[in-house]
Amino acid sequence: VQAYIEAMRHKIRSGDVVADIGSGTGILACLAARAGARRVYAIEKSDWIEIAREVVKRNGLEDRVECIQGDAATLRLPEKVDVMLGDVIGVFGLEGDVLRIYPAFRANNLAPGGRVIPERLELFFAPWEAAGEHAEVGFWRRDWYGLDLSAVARVQANLPLSRVLEPAGALAREASAWSGGLVEPHPGYVEAGARFEIARAGTMHGIAGWFETTLASGLRIHTGPDRPTTVWRQGWLPIDHPIEVLPRDLLETTVVFSPEEGGPCMGWRGRLRREGRDVAGFSQHEFLGRLVPDRPPK
Ligand SMILES: C[S@@+](CC[C@H](N)C(=O)[O-])C[C@H]1O[C@@H](n2cnc3c(N)ncnc32)[C@H](O)[C@@H]1O
Repeated sequence: VQAYIEAMRHKIRSGDVVADIGSGTGILACLAARAGARRVYAIEKSDWIEIAREVVKRNGLEDRVECIQGDAATLRLPEKVDVMLGDVIGVFGLEGDVLRIYPAFRANNLAPGGRVIPERLELFFAPWEAAGEHAEVGFWRRDWYGLDLSAVARVQANLPLSRVLEPAGALAREASAWSGGLVEPHPGYVEAGARFEIARAGTMHGIAGWFETTLASGLRIHTGPDRPTTVWRQGWLPIDHPIEVLPRDLLETTVVFSPEEGGPCMGWRGRLRREGRDVAGFSQHEFLGRLVPDRPPK
């Protein structure tokens, strides 16, 4: 929030009209009003809009902050805004649907020359050793009462999670796998590929993911494991079966964000090469973890 306050100081001018996209508690909308906005539209698709309304009222800002329930990607405001801001970046960066919401909102509602918070996003990934994070998957692979419960392990292994990861778990230097502006039109499908040279012997239990977002020039939020922990923590993509790795092994990974009706869905795959030969691989998808029905419910 402090970083957003700094960015608002840079970008909101007295008398501006501002939109807070995905307003949640309404906190950023209230702070935008405090930063000098003449009018703030707090836009939230969920019922949290009622909480935002109450927060706005309790802080005496209802004459300047208007709470609107709706999808920011399709909503048309009664006037153009000078500044659009929001916090819809997910733990892995893109799963919060920012590449759909931001360009569409900008096209429909931002005045020419308007300002945007945040402006850019960069995604990082690295192979990680984290036996504790993998325990949930391993648990369901054990022999319990003579039953094969691996179907449950499959669900656990295909769920992207948010975790605080120990920096010591890194098996290779992180790679920047995708970066881009947030308001340019985007097809929505992102394939973030990366290559790693394994730095030490160990067991790979998954892929760690994090991001850096530029709120304003020189003002960034970085959610890496070697930085103070933020509300996002780090992203964690478990792999089905842990892989033993050796120094100088080469790992190629691809993390995919594909646009689906309920928001982007993540897939992650990779292969490990040793002395020119494939020695291990994985291919996983959130579809296998979310238990999404594949036919309409009766
Ligand atoms: C990380 S939360 C933001 C929290 C908020 N800034 C705060 O501090 O309370 C993201 C919010 O965006 C909302 N959201 C996601 N997609 C949206 C959309 N298309 N239109 C409007 N709100 C959306 C979610 O319901 C959620 O409340």
